[in-house]
Amino acid sequence: MCGIVGYIGEKQALKILIDGLKKLEYRGYDSAGVAVYNGAGIDIKKTKGRLKDLEEKLEGQEVLGTIGIGHTRWATHGAPSDQNAHPHPNSNQTITIVHNGIIENYLEIKEELINKGYKFSSETDTEVIVHLIDSYYNNDPVDAVIKAMDKLEGSYALGVLFKDHPDQLIAARKDSPLVVGLGKGENFIASDIPAILQYTRDVYLLEDEEIVILTKDDVKILNKEKEEINREIFKVTWDVAAAEKGGYEHFMIKEIFEQPKVVKDTLMPRLPENQNKVVLDNIKLSKKELENINKIYIIGCGTAYYAGLIGKYLLERIARIPVVAEVASEFRYRDPVLDDKTLMIVLSQSGETADTLAALRLAKKAGSRVLGIVNVVGSSIAREADDVLYTWAGPEIAVASTKAYSAQLACMYLLTTHIALEMGKITEDRFKELREELYKLPEKVDVVLKQSEKIKKLAEDYINSKNVFCVGRGLDYMVSMEGSLKLKEVAYVHSEPYAAGELKHGPIALIEDVSLVIGILTQESLYEKTISNLKEIKARGGKVLAITLEGNTEIEKTADEVIYIPETPWIFTSLLANIPQQLFAYYMATALGHDVDKPRNLAKSVTVE
Ligand code: G6P
Repeated sequence: MCGIVGYIGEKQALKILIDGLKKLEYRGYDSAGVAVYNGAGIDIKKTKGRLKDLEEKLEGQEVLGTIGIGHTRWATHGAPSDQNAHPHPNSNQTITIVHNGIIENYLEIKEELINKGYKFSSETDTEVIVHLIDSYYNNDPVDAVIKAMDKLEGSYALGVLFKDHPDQLIAARKDSPLVVGLGKGENFIASDIPAILQYTRDVYLLEDEEIVILTKDDVKILNKEKEEINREIFKVTWDVAAAEKGGYEHFMIKEIFEQPKVVKDTLMPRLPENQNKVVLDNIKLSKKELENINKIYIIGCGTAYYAGLIGKYLLERIARIPVVAEVASEFRYRDPVLDDKTLMIVLSQSGETADTLAALRLAKKAGSRVLGIVNVVGSSIAREADDVLYTWAGPEIAVASTKAYSAQLACMYLLTTHIALEMGKITEDRFKELREELYKLPEKVDVVLKQSEKIKKLAEDYINSKNVFCVGRGLDYMVSMEGSLKLKEVAYVHSEPYAAGELKHGPIALIEDVSLVIGILTQESLYEKTISNLKEIKARGGKVLAITLEGNTEIEKTADEVIYIPETPWIFTSLLANIPQQLFAYYMATALGHDVDKPRNLAKSVTVE
């Protein structure tokens, strides 16, 4: 949550900070601010609202200087307001900070500082950091920041400006992401790579409890003992264009339409035609290693968790291994049974979600093996997991996840077929059949996307729906969870996913003529049962929109609307069945006039617990 940027160099900092924040706004957009050293002092401009509000506020004002920090906020402590917006200065404005993360012991520190005479002007946890640094400051910025770090509990990525040292930008991190961009005669800090990608492709990925001193010509990374650390330069290989809208109205729709490529990029390198196996990068999951595993946990949050549920279903049903899938924020607090025979699969687009990362650490501490399925290369989860299977989805900017989910499912298909083959649960011939089907998936995604105009019309026709239920059985039920989440996230429509057979145990009482039920029917053995449940809805006045496989025309007798997806074996239908749900939510949200890329109250990268 929250995005931070920093610049030191020879150019005017303001534009670079604002441009960087634009790329980070997906991390939070309750308020925004910048601080620039102008030769005489630190000039702070901040406001409640979005970055465009800050830009409006800055119109006609001169904010000149070649070193600065910036912030876009997702409020945790204290409501979105001008006062609570970052940057936060100390009382005499000689030190100023931006912060992403949460300081857990801030109340205790605040009390101590108040007793020492410090005055607070915001309700944020962040403000304690700047006063704490001030309390330790004795003309040595690094020393003061390290002392403050020793006292702080919680998570932080920090950018700090000292008026007395205007040729230095200090940064530090613990449990919140932070990268350093290396330029010529200029250097940068940012919460995420897209913020600095137009200036440099050379990046240092910082580790926890590291402090960085940036000058315009140099970057030094230190540990808390002030020893210098040699870090390899990480070269960003993807393109700036990948993080731009490329002619689409929103990132969300651009990312939905990227899915044929994303699925292809994720699947194909792992399914070489000349080898009858899945090539799982360098991940060691041979029969021998698999035999040493007695259970699998699949952990994630939000959309990633829903992809994990599909993984659980497939791994149990096809690879015959017991799997528990759970949201990270519950898993980590229930003292789960973890040992060296446990495999934990963590799913995360960003690789930075705080609860998922904490669950990973819990497993590692217990000696379990952790396999990360991650999209952001070099992210914390990617670095800390024993093995990583990357989802090659490219940067996902829209807050609501779409293409990353499809890539996560593709990884689950790869893992399932790999484990099933290794463990002798499927024959080599069956593997080859499944591989042929996987080869066809990207094209089939394209076929579904071609129906976008029809789905747009449906979304507009059903714009007044209240209480949308997304239902299905088996894998279809798991897919409906993701569909329901998208409707909530971007269309702000109250929606619930339900196992189709459970509707009659309560929720059917809510069905009336403004109700819409989206039924997914891709599991042949369960068609008839789901159709009966949808008939129960129709009988009570509800409208039914069905998503089913081509050829299942029987449903037309029951459903008001039908969207067909190409025929596919039951194992791989979830990826295709979800795409109409993405489009439906997107078009409903745009028809309702919502800001789909930045839905209210949400943030893409949730680095708070
Ligand atoms: C946030 C995002 C969701 C995402 C979830 C998990 O809630 O808004 O789109 O699914 O975090 O994020 P991760 O980066 O771990 O996949």
